[in-house]
Amino acid sequence: MKMKKSAAVFILFLLCSLAMVQSEYSPVYIGSQEGFKEADKISSLPGQPLVNFDQFSGYVTIDPSAGRAFFYYFAESEDPSNKPLVLWINGGPTCSSLGIGAFEEIGPFRVNRSGKTLAQNEFAWNNLANILFLESPVGVGFSYSNTSSNDVIRDTEVALDTYAFLVNWLERFPEYKTRDSFLAGESYAGHYVPQLAQLILNNNKITNQTIINLAGIAIGNPNIDYETRLYGLYDYLSQHALISDEIHEGIVLNCNFSSVDTVTEDCKTVTNQAKEARGNTYLYDLYAPLCTSFSPSPSTLDFNPCADQDVLVYLNTPQVQESIHANATASIQGTCGLSLEFDQFLVLTVLPVIQELMTANISVWIFSGDTGGVIPVTSVKYAINQLGPPTVKTPWYPWYSQCEVGGYVVEYENLIFLTVRGAGHFVPYYQPARAVTFFTAFIEGKLPSPQQKN
Ligand SMILES: *[C@@H]1O[C@H](CO)[C@@H](O)[C@H](O)[C@H]1NC(C)=O
Ligand SMILES: *[C@@H]1O[C@H](CO)[C@@H](O)[C@H](O)[C@H]1NC(C)=O
Ligand SMILES: *[C@@H]1O[C@H](CO)[C@@H](O)[C@H](O)[C@H]1NC(C)=O
Ligand SMILES: *[C@@H]1O[C@H](CO)[C@@H](O)[C@H](O)[C@H]1NC(C)=O
Ligand SMILES: *[C@@H]1O[C@H](CO)[C@@H](O)[C@H](O)[C@H]1NC(C)=O
Repeated sequence: MKMKKSAAVFILFLLCSLAMVQSEYSPVYIGSQEGFKEADKISSLPGQPLVNFDQFSGYVTIDPSAGRAFFYYFAESEDPSNKPLVLWINGGPTCSSLGIGAFEEIGPFRVNRSGKTLAQNEFAWNNLANILFLESPVGVGFSYSNTSSNDVIRDTEVALDTYAFLVNWLERFPEYKTRDSFLAGESYAGHYVPQLAQLILNNNKITNQTIINLAGIAIGNPNIDYETRLYGLYDYLSQHALISDEIHEGIVLNCNFSSVDTVTEDCKTVTNQAKEARGNTYLYDLYAPLCTSFSPSPSTLDFNPCADQDVLVYLNTPQVQESIHANATASIQGTCGLSLEFDQFLVLTVLPVIQELMTANISVWIFSGDTGGVIPVTSVKYAINQLGPPTVKTPWYPWYSQCEVGGYVVEYENLIFLTVRGAGHFVPYYQPARAVTFFTAFIEGKLPSPQQKN
């Protein structure tokens, strides 16, 4: 695909910047947080091993009149005062950061096959930072709204609500107010994270309220641009021999992915053929096993294809919900996808927002597992090319983790693109050690090591 969209991206960027300058800041609601932190402390999760760090979870009201409250889970590090703060948001747009982010990816524990006990995750990110998992938007995980509204949720409201959450949460945990803060997430958080970063930077300039000390963002297999995502998806499936050349050519000839409206019936016919052609493969990680009746009981370090099931059993146990101060009426139905309606096609690209963050010198990391087929590495590369592409500062090189190539990295001006070898869509789930290596580099603000060392 050869297209120059950089001019259009730049004009969009100018328009967005103008709109931002003109927008008025309306102070967010800040409720009294007196006593909440103590109440949110988790004494112990059912079935957890002994640990030396503190955990907190509970609700932060973001809009008392609408009865909107966000659920969070906070895993501090063992040495919390010397570590940065990282907000982690899963995508979806309706995936639970508690269910997936905390218990399947980067949190301190993994759920055992029984769904009753926990094992320590030696590759937990709270070894390196204080990790705040947020269930967003309302209706996801244990977050809820008391007012039933027919309004479709959109990106803009999510950013405003998440900002309100953060400012209130920082009142509850004031020791983190001046801490270096990072935002991270994956998939549809490719929208949430840059949009929240943009709002933070803007509000930092004009508000009298809390200044958030934003140091950088990291987004994994991110949904950042509709058009390049779809072109990249079919190129990737073809290059990985999951669909035939004929089907791929049919897509090239019949599909125009420049907007939702340009996708014709003829195009849908061939994309359906592509779906059929690849069979029941696990698109989130092409070579991973499915959760079937043949799935063995894994030990902690083995990949557990049934993790979703085990996490749901665990989180829907009444004692677990009690221990995390969750509201049982908002119980988790699935780790992704709930009752709420979300318009994910209102904003088709966030590339202008990413460009704006780069211009503001925020450290932007885009990482991508190279065996994930939902938002494949090919799509991510095409999207970055739409940014100019930016000037290369450090050319492409292999980075190492545990004496093996962990993936590849290229540093552009104000943007780092990093692949994770052998990782699917949920990078830290499939490659926990490699994920820790690049996460360490990210929060230290340096590139991962090119040396094959111990
Ligand atoms: C529990 O959640 C429901 C919505 O599912 C809400 O109406 C109710 O106010 C919540 N209760 C508490 C104590 O937060
Ligand atoms: C900032 O504080 C000043 C003085 O307290 C007040 O007059 C002004 O309205 C505040 N601005 C905002 C955006 O809240
Ligand atoms: C795709 O559709 C858009 C909007 O109609 C049009 O501007 C563009 O030229 C089309 N692209 C191709 C490759 O035909
Ligand atoms: C949970 O799984 C881990 C790893 O298989 C195991 O070491 C631990 O004993 C299990 N915990 C319980 C209570 O069964
Ligand atoms: C970003 O960094 C560059 C190079 O250090 C500097 O020239 C520029 O003024 C900075 N921009 C902002 C918005 O801080």
